[in-house]
Amino acid sequence: MSDRKKITLPVLFDKMAKGTPLTMITCYDYPMAYLVEQAGIDIVLVGDSLGMTMLGYDSTLPVTMDDMIRHAAAVRRGTPNGWLIGDMPYMSYQASDESAVLNAGRFMAQAACDGIKLEGGIEVCPRVKAIVNAGIPVMGHLGLTPQSVSSLGGFRLQGKSAKQAKKIVDDARALEEAGAMAILLELVPDQVCALITERAKVPIISLGSGPTAHGQLLIFHDMFGLYPRFTPKMAKKFADAGKAIADGLKQYVDEVTTKVFPEPEHYFGIKAEEYAELRRLVELEG
Ligand code: KIV
Repeated sequence: MSDRKKITLPVLFDKMAKGTPLTMITCYDYPMAYLVEQAGIDIVLVGDSLGMTMLGYDSTLPVTMDDMIRHAAAVRRGTPNGWLIGDMPYMSYQASDESAVLNAGRFMAQAACDGIKLEGGIEVCPRVKAIVNAGIPVMGHLGLTPQSVSSLGGFRLQGKSAKQAKKIVDDARALEEAGAMAILLELVPDQVCALITERAKVPIISLGSGPTAHGQLLIFHDMFGLYPRFTPKMAKKFADAGKAIADGLKQYVDEVTTKVFPEPEHYFGIKAEEYAELRRLVELEG
C-alpha cells in the first residue's frame, strides 16, 4: 500500500490557495483504485459513467444506488487515502430532499466516501443545502451533465452563447452559495471556465473545459484506451492498455490452440512415490 497522507478538504483548499493543480480521475473497481492510490491522485470519483464503461449501457440512466455502492466500496478498499466522491445516480436525488439525503448518506456509511457529486445548477440547490446540512460534502457538476443528455440534445459543448454561458456562471455562484465544496465544469468553453474560476472561492475542476481551473479530471477508460465505442476529443490517451490487453488475449488464444501454454513453470506435480501410490489405489478399484 502507499504511505501518503489522507487527502482531506483542508488539504484540497490548501493546494487551491497555493495554486497547486488538483488531480482527479474516475475509478470504478479495486485494481484501478490500487493504481490510482500509487499514483497519488487527489480526488477519486466513482462516476455513474460506470454504467457505460463497466456495465455496457448506452447511457448513465439505468445505474442504481446499489450499483454505485458496490463499486464505491471496492474503490475505497483500493484507495484508502484519496478524497473519494460517490456520484449520485439518476433519480437518487431529483425527487426530494429526503431521498437525496438518504442516498448521499449511503455513500458515506456503506462505502466510506468523503463526499458526493450531483448534477445541476440553481434547480438542485435545495438538495445541495439539505445534503450539506446533513454533514456531507457536495461537489456540483455543470455544463455537459450526462443525466440530462436528452434535454441537452446530445454529448456536446455547453455554454457556447453568452446567454447560455451566463446561466452556467449564475449556476456556479448559486451552487457555491448553497454550500458546494467544489464544482466540476464538463465541456464548457475555456474562457467561461476561466471566468468562473477567477470568481470562485471553492475548487473548480475542469473536464474538457481548459487549463485555468484549479484541477483537472479525466475518465480512466478514455485515458487508457479501455472504452471501445469512442474516445472523446477532451480525453488524452496516456497509454494504450486496451491494445496491450487485446494483443495479450490474441497471444493467449494462439498459445493455447498451438499447445505452447501452459509451460512447466505454470503448473505443479506431486512426488513420484505419491503418484505411484495413487496409481496403485486407482487400479485397485478397477
Ligand atoms: O459519471 C462520471 O464519470 C461523471 C463525469 C463525466 C464527470 O460524472
